[in-house]
Amino acid sequence: MDVLSNAETGLLRPLPLPDGTLIAFEYTAKGLLPAWVPIEPMPEGSRTFAQRSKNLVSCWGSFTSCAGEAVNGETPMKVDLEGRVALVTGAGRGIGKAIALAFAENGAWLAVNDVNPSGEETAQEIRRQGGNAKFHQADVGDASAANEMVATVEKEWGKIDILVNNAAVYVANLKERYPIHEFLDSDWDRILRVDLNGVFYCSRAVSAGMVKRRRGVIINLSSVAGIVPLRLQVAYDVAKAAVVNFTRCHAVEVGAYGVRVNAIAPGSTLTDATRQAFYNPAAKQFADSLLSHIPLGRPGEPEDIANAALYLASDESNYVTGHILVVDGGWTAGFVRDW
Ligand SMILES: NC(=O)c1ccc[n+]([C@@H]2O[C@H](COP(=O)([O-])OP(=O)(O)OC[C@H]3O[C@@H](n4cnc5c(N)ncnc54)[C@H](O)[C@@H]3O)[C@@H](O)[C@H]2O)c1
Repeated sequence: MDVLSNAETGLLRPLPLPDGTLIAFEYTAKGLLPAWVPIEPMPEGSRTFAQRSKNLVSCWGSFTSCAGEAVNGETPMKVDLEGRVALVTGAGRGIGKAIALAFAENGAWLAVNDVNPSGEETAQEIRRQGGNAKFHQADVGDASAANEMVATVEKEWGKIDILVNNAAVYVANLKERYPIHEFLDSDWDRILRVDLNGVFYCSRAVSAGMVKRRRGVIINLSSVAGIVPLRLQVAYDVAKAAVVNFTRCHAVEVGAYGVRVNAIAPGSTLTDATRQAFYNPAAKQFADSLLSHIPLGRPGEPEDIANAALYLASDESNYVTGHILVVDGGWTAGFVRDW
C-alpha cells in the first residue's frame, strides 16, 4: 500500500485497534479497505489529517484532538454560539464528544454529560483549548438524575440554551443481536430506558426553563435505524423511530414559545461503537456489504454529524423545527443497485 498516494487522495484515516496497532482505512469504489501502513514521515505542507502529521502516531494524536476540523482539510464550519450554554448528553466519546468540541470551538459553554467518567476528559480537552466546560456525570435513563443535572447546570450557569440528546445504548457486538422471538426483556428495557426515556427525561427537564425564557434549541440523535429498520435491533430501531416522532411532538408544543426541536438521523458513523462492531479487519466482509449500500461509499465521521448539529443549534436554522436531518451519505435515499 502506497502511503503517499493514499495521503494525496486525502482518504487515509489512521485508527488504533484494541491491541494498540494502528490501522488506516481507505475508501475505494469496492468499499472500505484496511490499509496497513508503516510508521514513516508524511509529506510536509499537506492539507489532510494524515498529511499534516509527521507520522502515523502523531497523525492519530491530531485526529483525536481536532474534532470539528474538516478531515478533508477545508475550513472548519463556523457559527456564532457565543454566550450560549449547551448540555450535550453522552459526550464522553464518539459523536457526542465531537458535538461538544465543535460547540465549544464556536463559543458555547459546555455542560458535558456522560454516565461514564470519560466525560471529564472531554471537559478537560475543551478547557485546554480555552473553552468553558464542566462535566456532569449522570445516567439520563434515571429521571431524578436527569432532573438534578439540569437543575445544577441552570443554577450554576443561569440557563440552558441548547440541549443535545445524544446518549444512547447501542449493541455493538454483532453476536449479541437477536431476532424478535429471542429478544430478551433485559435488552429491551436497557435500550429503551436510555435511548427513549433518556430523551424524554432530559427534554422535559430542560424544556421548562426554555419555555419560560422563550428561547431554546433541542437536538435529538435518532438514526437511520429509526427511519428504515435494521434487522436484529428491534429495541434500538423502535427507540430511534420514537425519537423521530417525539421530536415532532415536542416541536409542535413549544414552537409558540420560540423553542425549536429537531433531530439528526446519522447513518453509519465511525465511532468506538461501530469500530468494535464492523469497521475492523475481522469484519471486513460485513463493512464492505454495509458500505455497498451507501452512495457516498464511506462511513460518516463524527464531525459530519457535529456540523449538522452546529447548523441546527445556530440562528442560521431559525425557521427550522420539527425536522429530521438525515446525515447518512445517501443510505436511505434509495437502492445503490440496478433492478
Ligand atoms: N455511530 C453511529 O454509526 C450512529 C449511527 C446512527 C445513530 N447514532 C446515534 O448517535 C449517538 C451517538 O452515537 P455514538 O456512536 O457516538 O455512541 P457511543 O456508544 O460511541 O457513545 C455514546 C455515549 O453515551 C454514553 N451513555 C450511554 N448510556 C448513557 C446514559 N444512560 N447516560 C449518559 N450517558 C450515557 C456512553 O457512555 C458513551 O460515552 C447515539 O444516540 C447513537 O444512537 C450513531
